[in-house]
Amino acid sequence: MFKIVTLPGDGIGPEVMDATLRVLGWFGRRGFQYQTEEALVGGIAYESLGRSDPDESMAKAKAADVVLLGAVGGPKWDNLPFHQKPERGLLRARQELQVFANLRPALCFDALKDASTLKPEIVSGLDILIVRELMGGVYFGEPKETTDLPDGQKRAVDTQVYTSSEIDRIARVAFELARVRGKKLASAEKSNVMVTGVLWRQVVTEVAKDYPDVQLTHILADNAAMQLVRNPKQFDVLVTDNLFGDVLSDEAAQLTGSIGMLPSASLGAKRADGKQSALYEPIHGSAPDIAGKGLANPIASILSLAMAFRYSFARPDDAARIEKAVDAVLAEGYRTGDIMQPGKIQVGTTAMADAILKALDKP
Ligand code: IPM
Ligand code: MG
Repeated sequence: MFKIVTLPGDGIGPEVMDATLRVLGWFGRRGFQYQTEEALVGGIAYESLGRSDPDESMAKAKAADVVLLGAVGGPKWDNLPFHQKPERGLLRARQELQVFANLRPALCFDALKDASTLKPEIVSGLDILIVRELMGGVYFGEPKETTDLPDGQKRAVDTQVYTSSEIDRIARVAFELARVRGKKLASAEKSNVMVTGVLWRQVVTEVAKDYPDVQLTHILADNAAMQLVRNPKQFDVLVTDNLFGDVLSDEAAQLTGSIGMLPSASLGAKRADGKQSALYEPIHGSAPDIAGKGLANPIASILSLAMAFRYSFARPDDAARIEKAVDAVLAEGYRTGDIMQPGKIQVGTTAMADAILKALDKP
């Protein structure tokens, strides 16, 4: 029996979570044993509990086998003090769960090769995996503060910091994944201007000795950004730090047609009991402009559930079954607004989920 904690959050989060839980229910009716419990995080938690990262939600998440998250944030909370912002809920959950490895696959479904803003031949067949370090770097480095200077100015500092063990563990995850994919790993940093980048390159080079079967290349992060739009299919696995990974994964998302398509898995270290903390979430945000209207694309969230089947439930066949169902509905022409193309069938969140459930029913 798997314990799943859901954190629907804000904006379109609850809508895509509902759609995802219907897909989970489909497997439940066929023998997959799980229980779900919902907890509050983000702006909605701030509204009802006075903080975006409530202790009780964090405790529930830590006791779960798997956490599914929708999205956090929205304009309503833009003016909250920094440490109360909805994003705090997500960032604290990542820390509490110790999920340091964020897997962001960018896969271009064949039916969507014309939906990208890039030429179809550039993105068709695209299958890359970004491995983003998720617990370190400038997101969490100290000091992180704004101070007043004697001359009346303000001075703000964020700190980029990495230790060799933090780099070592994320590099190993990336090498392991490259090993079972195309055996190519690109590591992106800014070793030309940042000492963290120099250390990053050294440690990754050292780890590479344990993976002689994987071809490693180092690439400066700015060049990686350019290569991603110039010739993205040159990449197989791309490992990078927290901030570069945040930016490069949004860029990679657009290659696939829409950010509404990209799932993610955030994984911790394997524990003594063989279990591993895991948080699954679409990489898109709360999309306040379309929230509550039933228009959101639930595919990124549903594909995140597929990743849970693969990495946490050890049911790769079920993961593939969900991915195939998504492929099938796209081939049939179903589109949410974000991936709409001329001549296709425009649907909302619920109808897209209906179509996916129907596709699952087909053997
Ligand atoms: C992401 C998001 C988050 C991040 C925000 C919402 C804090 O952009 O998961 O990519 O910056 O990590
Ligand atoms: Mg982001």
